[in-house]
Amino acid sequence: MRRPRPIVIVANRLPVHRVGDKLVENPGGLVTALVPTLKARGGAWVGWSGNSRAAGRAFSFEGFRIQPVHISEAEVEGFYNQLSNRTLWPLYHDAIRTPEFDHSWWRPYVVVNHRYAKAAAAVAPRNGLVWVHDYHLQLVPSMLRMMRPDVAIGFFLHVPFPPEELFAWLPWREQILEGLLGADVVGFQTQASARNFSRAAREFTRAEGTDSELEFDRRKIRVGSYPISIDFDWFANAAATPEALREASLLRRRIGAGRKILLSVDRLDYTKGIDLRLLAFEAMLKSKRTKVTDCVFIQIASPSREPVHEYGQMRVRIEQLVGRINGEFSEPGRVAVHYFRRGFTREQLASYYRAADVMVVTPLRDGMNLVAKEFVATRSDYTGVLVLSEFAGAARELRQALIVNPRNIEGMAQAFEAALAMPKREARRRMSILRTIVRRHDVFEWADTFLEALAG
Ligand code: ADP
Ligand code: F6P
Repeated sequence: MRRPRPIVIVANRLPVHRVGDKLVENPGGLVTALVPTLKARGGAWVGWSGNSRAAGRAFSFEGFRIQPVHISEAEVEGFYNQLSNRTLWPLYHDAIRTPEFDHSWWRPYVVVNHRYAKAAAAVAPRNGLVWVHDYHLQLVPSMLRMMRPDVAIGFFLHVPFPPEELFAWLPWREQILEGLLGADVVGFQTQASARNFSRAAREFTRAEGTDSELEFDRRKIRVGSYPISIDFDWFANAAATPEALREASLLRRRIGAGRKILLSVDRLDYTKGIDLRLLAFEAMLKSKRTKVTDCVFIQIASPSREPVHEYGQMRVRIEQLVGRINGEFSEPGRVAVHYFRRGFTREQLASYYRAADVMVVTPLRDGMNLVAKEFVATRSDYTGVLVLSEFAGAARELRQALIVNPRNIEGMAQAFEAALAMPKREARRRMSILRTIVRRHDVFEWADTFLEALAG
């Protein structure tokens, strides 16, 4: 059998970092999805090492090339902290924080995108496949096309693409759209995002065509939804080892016999709705229908993008709420909210997922949300209930979850109660369907489907 064609991945971050003299894979969906694909096909990964001081040399990892891109400290500020995370991130997430449009941030975005494009052009084989990822690198497709017209270029956006009325706010809307239109295939998490993009492209550029195929500069561009997923088998197996099961039952014992666990796991990001779900938990306890002797809320939140002001504000808000709820409702040996602000290993997360009775995933807007799928994968015992926001991309697929509107605090509190009280048979029925969906559409299927579209 012929070996599949090598690929070049271009993403903001590299898939590995150094700990002493060892290389450790970075956590996250993108890495688990694409490292096995690169191992099988060979190729290269172009990205930022996270270290602005050292340029870093290319090296080989598991049979493919790691090509670092250097970004200076000043560029990290303009390109990553500002334009990517104070303009694009909030704008693309329904403007739930007001996006800022500062003209001095645009230049570093262009310069850094150009550097990624150049690095990709240097390593891509003749007629090769290049797959560019996410909102940080939306100019790379057209820049790369100018440098290397022979390669096939794919782009995948991990976050939502906003409705046209919001996208219209962006002073650089034409440049971003024309940047993306340099690709042959532009992929999104949902149909709605694909449609939003096609409409914006027709409105603000010379592109013509339908929601699924555009024509621009006498080239055809395929537009579609390719919902990302997880390594189902890894999570299913990790949660079923004797150690994971021991950890899960130890956690349950420590929490207290007879208490059910509501669990949330997120990056500490204002899009995730952590504060609103804490308010819902507080409302539930206030109603006195459910008491702290019956249940506990565990919130795991990993620190994220801390130099960005809005993230610091959200941290303060969450920590005040945790303090307030615990001050009012905790009892000796019965803490109402356990809050961990730190990263966990994937193995630890698997034990927490397995220990939970109710998984609470309630972002205000989310491209997909992999945590919801990871939880489902770990529940090979067919127990546990998923409460899921209708504004997560995952809600398009995981319809057997209890779907909530995260801005409806009272509605969310009722969903928590319904989840805690759900009869075993009903929970089993729902979980069985959820598991079938995630098992069938795992991350390997996602990568293969996108790459087939690109190669074809
Ligand atoms: P996002 O990409 O916005 O962070 P996702 O839910 O799609 O959101 O993906 C988050 C990934 O990060 C998941 O794979 C999840 O397991 C991981 N993750 C989230 N919180 C933590 C944490 N506290 N420790 C370790 N990994 C985490
Ligand atoms: O989901 C969007 C995303 O940018 C992912 O690609 C990334 O893994 C995650 O958010 C964390 O973001 P950052 O790289 O800024 O820490």
